[in-house]
Amino acid sequence: MTPRNSSGFNVKTIECELEVDDIPFLVLKMATGVYNTKSLVKNYVRYRPSYPQQLFEDIIQYCHEDPRSGDTLAVDLGCGTGLSTLPLSRHFQSVIGIDSSVEQLSRAPKSIDNTRFTVGDAENTGIASGSVDLVTVGTALHWMDTTKVQQEIRRVLRPNGTVAIYTLCGLNLENPEDNKALQHFLMVDLKDYWGVDFEYQLNILDKIEFPFDHRKKIYTRTIDDMSFDGLFGLLNTYSAVINLKQQNPESTLMEELKETLKMNKTDGQEQRIKQYIPIKMMMGKMKKCIRQQ
Ligand SMILES: C[S@@+](CC[C@H](N)C(=O)[O-])C[C@H]1O[C@@H](n2cnc3c(N)ncnc32)[C@H](O)[C@@H]1O
Repeated sequence: MTPRNSSGFNVKTIECELEVDDIPFLVLKMATGVYNTKSLVKNYVRYRPSYPQQLFEDIIQYCHEDPRSGDTLAVDLGCGTGLSTLPLSRHFQSVIGIDSSVEQLSRAPKSIDNTRFTVGDAENTGIASGSVDLVTVGTALHWMDTTKVQQEIRRVLRPNGTVAIYTLCGLNLENPEDNKALQHFLMVDLKDYWGVDFEYQLNILDKIEFPFDHRKKIYTRTIDDMSFDGLFGLLNTYSAVINLKQQNPESTLMEELKETLKMNKTDGQEQRIKQYIPIKMMMGKMKKCIRQQ
């Protein structure tokens, strides 16, 4: 029987040394397959930008707007390598990051006393009903069954608990010519390679039913001085690029994009690029206790 801790959570051992690159993709769920790709995860740790600090400050402030809200437990669903889990550690007594990818979790930090990471499905966390003060989902909802995961969030949240769902909405470059080339690459060249339709990802927060009292926010993560390496490292964390390389190893699309961006450069300086990443967030409050329904 799976052991349970005091919050009723199913505790599973994470086999960090597991080599999953060799497992045929079809036997894995689609997201699990892409996110268990070692090269993706390596690039994820190195190149994926952090979220703006303001986003987490806004979440915490929103939690505290209701004096009845607590700070016992926060849960980050689809936590990946912990980019959006760790900022919660300072504010809650316990934090749990849950992800279906063993490989992503193997790169999550392990030394934070009140924070632990565990493999699992966001739609079925095993966490005790009505035990969680805050649930976060960072750039992961598009991979999930949105109906089931929202039911699960409603189930685990305490009355007056908070949910914050936020998502990176694409990538823009400052130079218009560069940006045109990049958007063509993302939307046209990679169209058939996205694990989840790209337009759906970009607009997911406008499309889903969000059955909570809620508030929307938009941020822009600006990276002033990214190297070409950094930009292409970041692109290598996208499911479409992983799928392109797996399904069409001979493809020269990435090299063509690099050449186009280099040609647009006129200053002869080391290639550096300014980027903007829009981030949309929806925060909501549980008003009814699901257990009473
Ligand atoms: C784009 S990454 C985001 C990771 C992290 N939240 C961040 O912001 O960096 C999406 C993550 O969702 C995870 N994921 C996808 N579907 C999932 C599911 N049904 N349950 C749990 N995790 C899931 C993937 O394994 C992946 O690590």
